[in-house]
Amino acid sequence: MSARTSQATPRDDAIVVAVDGPAAAGKGTLARRLAAALNLVYLDTGSIYRAVAAKLLAGGGDPADADAASRVARALSSADLDRDDLRAEGVGAAASVVSAHQAVREALLEFQRAVAFDPPAGRAGAVLDGRDIGTVVCPDACAKLFVTASLEERARRRHEELLGRGEARIYARVLEDLKERDERDAARDAAPMTAAADAVVLDTSDLDVDAAFERALDIVRARCGVTAG
Ligand code: DC
Repeated sequence: MSARTSQATPRDDAIVVAVDGPAAAGKGTLARRLAAALNLVYLDTGSIYRAVAAKLLAGGGDPADADAASRVARALSSADLDRDDLRAEGVGAAASVVSAHQAVREALLEFQRAVAFDPPAGRAGAVLDGRDIGTVVCPDACAKLFVTASLEERARRRHEELLGRGEARIYARVLEDLKERDERDAARDAAPMTAAADAVVLDTSDLDVDAAFERALDIVRARCGVTAG
């Protein structure tokens, strides 16, 4: 995927916030709200891996095929991030498989860094959410959050979300899928999902959306030296 700048160099004053964590922990909602509150651009990096997976599947490709997946990753365009099948059944799991290929990760790295370090005019910086933002993509982010929740609570939320979209699914199956995805994302050799040493771990199991947001906002303001929204 081509970046807006070939070599992303940090804009001196850009605020970069890394939000990592497992699937269905609430990091997307949190990251989007942080971005809105602090005038930052938001990048959902999972959607980039989903776009690679969706495009590959649509063309009859196998997510386990590293060469095929990296070809798709290198040819990805911004328009692919707007595909309407990114949340389709099976795409999350396929994204987890394609994202384990080192060549796929390399093809997508510079684009993510360009958004982080060279945000659009008028924005103070960026919030990126994913699995390896604090460890690999933006190791110098001023604030790093690792957002998590118990497997059961994440499965409950994802199940509810699917039902809300009219997609009937068995809770136990949703839980198994999440568990499998967590294990694959955390066990891979290439940029495994893990909390950076300097990340604040935010367990949202017992927090509602507003409470999680307030806590995250306090952490980001303190760490990045932001006094006003
Ligand atoms: O956040 P998500 O569920 O949309 O992500 C889909 C998959 O993409 C996830 O299972 C692992 C992969 N991913 C990754 O490896 N690195 C990221 N920064 C973001 C997502």
